[in-house]
Amino acid sequence: MRIQMQIFMILGIALCLISAAHADQANAVYYNPPYTPSACYQNQDRGNMVTGVSDALWNGGAACGKQYRVRCIGATNTAPHPCHDGASVVVTVVDYCRPQCNGTLNLSKDAFAVIADTDAGNVKVEFNQA
Ligand SMILES: *[C@@H]1O[C@H](CO)[C@@H](O)[C@H](O)[C@H]1NC(C)=O
Ligand SMILES: *[C@@H]1O[C@H](CO)[C@@H](O)[C@H](O)[C@H]1NC(C)=O
Repeated sequence: MRIQMQIFMILGIALCLISAAHADQANAVYYNPPYTPSACYQNQDRGNMVTGVSDALWNGGAACGKQYRVRCIGATNTAPHPCHDGASVVVTVVDYCRPQCNGTLNLSKDAFAVIADTDAGNVKVEFNQA
């Protein structure tokens, strides 16, 4: 019985690694509305499901308008269970997050609230281009 359990665990870990391989991981923080003006679209309103990205993704502004599906995968601080399990949100890149931005993704509060408790402030996420 114990050996079977171990095999299951190893299989589980392997499956996790395989499915995670397609997604990038980052930290995410959030900011409060209003979400304009933005670095990409100035005063043009692109809705509430938007994000700022830091240098790794910004690519000199080429990131503007790209859409990412983002999912919370864990805590970065003391908040024990910040993630809304199974939830994901699609956000549009509208802004640049400066180097002091600790998260690669600076989500709008509306987008962050879909995938995690805003009380946590900062969570680990997984994302794919949508
Ligand atoms: C997130 O974006 C907002 C709006 O551009 C900005 O004020 C805030 O400083 C950013 N957060 C971080 C951690 O850089
Ligand atoms: C970024 O992280 C550093 C070190 O982890 C911390 O001292 C700083 O307060 C953080 N800045 C923001 C905007 O969260």
